Amino acid sequence: MKTKIAVLVSGGGTNLQALIDAQQSGIIKSGEIKLVISSKEGVYALTRAENAGIDRLVIERKGNPDFEKQLIAALEENGIELIILAGFMCILSEKFTSRFANRIINVHPSLIPSFCGAGYYGLRVHEAALEYGVKVTGATVHFVNEIPDGGKIIFQKAVEIKEGDTPEVLQRRVMEEAEWKILPAAAEKVSYDIMKSKGN
Ligand code: GAR
Repeated sequence: MKTKIAVLVSGGGTNLQALIDAQQSGIIKSGEIKLVISSKEGVYALTRAENAGIDRLVIERKGNPDFEKQLIAALEENGIELIILAGFMCILSEKFTSRFANRIINVHPSLIPSFCGAGYYGLRVHEAALEYGVKVTGATVHFVNEIPDGGKIIFQKAVEIKEGDTPEVLQRRVMEEAEWKILPAAAEKVSYDIMKSKGN
């Protein structure tokens, strides 16, 4: 049986789209996206899920002391085996990450261990890379543990920084050349490994 996947989002959802497209084209064949959970109402990622006919749920993080409790309940009720953080702008507690050890993966828009950890998310990561003046950046997909961006690396891909890049231009290049490729590839790899570990 295919690995049951939930994708957790907070924004535009281009990485979610890459996963949906990869499922449709057969790049992801060992897993199936069963559920999309957003930490925010009204984000475009929810529309992408709706257009693909995938169940969706909003669990607001802001001002919600039961956020993780509700997240766990939704994941368990749906029998989710693999959690993919795709532009999910929340840091998960140790209680949460240990409950789903080796079952959570995240895409981060830099070559970890550069420009990562608490405070480095979204455009901020690319601003930091440009401020530092590195000539190469990229993206990383890794398992999620209690250390922000600190879990075992699954895939990385390097991307060249060009003269005159703005954070927005660089963000787009990193997405196109790295994130949208390595995230679906990692989703397939981990889904396959989970499927095999179940004996099918
Ligand atoms: C992506 O670049 C993703 O790598 C990054 O946010 C963007 C979300 O875009 N994630 C982080 O910075 C996590 N630390 P998307 O909603 O279009 O996929």
